[in-house]
Amino acid sequence: MEEKFAPRGYSPESDLLQGKTILVTGAGDGIGRTAALTYAAHGATVLLLGRTESKLEAVYDAIERAGGAQPGIIAMDLLSADAAQYHTLAEGLEGTFDCLDGLLHNAALLGDMCPVENAGYQSWCDVMQVNVNAQFMLTKVLLPLLQRAPGASIVLTSSGVGRSGRAYWGSYAVSKFATEGFMQVLADELANTTQVRVNSLNPKGTNTAMRRTAYPAENPTDNPSPEDIMGVYLYLMGDDSRGVTGQAFSAR
Ligand SMILES: NC(=O)c1ccc[n+]([C@@H]2O[C@H](COP(=O)([O-])OP(=O)(O)OC[C@H]3O[C@@H](n4cnc5c(N)ncnc54)[C@H](OP(=O)(O)O)[C@@H]3O)[C@@H](O)[C@H]2O)c1
Repeated sequence: MEEKFAPRGYSPESDLLQGKTILVTGAGDGIGRTAALTYAAHGATVLLLGRTESKLEAVYDAIERAGGAQPGIIAMDLLSADAAQYHTLAEGLEGTFDCLDGLLHNAALLGDMCPVENAGYQSWCDVMQVNVNAQFMLTKVLLPLLQRAPGASIVLTSSGVGRSGRAYWGSYAVSKFATEGFMQVLADELANTTQVRVNSLNPKGTNTAMRRTAYPAENPTDNPSPEDIMGVYLYLMGDDSRGVTGQAFSAR
């Protein structure tokens, strides 16, 4: 798989996302939190989806304090959400917004890091539910709104172990391979009929709670912070990446 990058030295305009509405999953913490703040700082109205309402409220407050457009909070646990909840969400958004310009699938579970032989079945299913099935359901119900935008962008978060398998990364790695597959299927399906582009993005090692759990012996500050990798998150969400679809991006 050939990895792509944002253009060298990419420097987005400060109003890159002005007038756009962008939904970010896992917006309460880690990379999703920083992406939400960054998109808002570049003019977007951000819809913050996550499972821990207090964290979403803190992001909401930070956006308001910074003078960003009033965000929306979508408290939703992607592990337990059923089809009816997805349809209710889509109906609610369709009643409020003319279109959806961006969808960042970012929420994920790490699951068991152990040999396949020792991995738990329920843990495996949970990872697939959040990292794969939820992406499918959310995309499916939001596609009509995305197709109403002049050029919407769907970004699916991948990982190095979703592009080359590695021992002990079990369900997480398999879920990220599925994410790459979903990206390719969707991009191909939408390429000639709509203005919706679909790409995957591997943030690579980034200093977040997930990374610290996966690599407890590592010095966390050896990795970039989420703020350091926002260039490619902006590039893929803004109009500078119009026409780019079906590609596997990497933050560095
Ligand atoms: N950090 C890295 O080095 C790295 C490397 C490669 C790929 N990635 C990918 O980058 C993305 C972001 O990772 P991160 O490092 O920022 O992880 P993180 O710090 O663990 O944040 C993940 C976010 O997803 C949310 N989430 C988890 N389960 C959820 C559920 N059932 N329903 C709704 N939201 C849920 C979490 O909510 P709570 O705040 O409530 O826990 C949290 O806000 C993930 O897709 C990850 O696989 C990260």
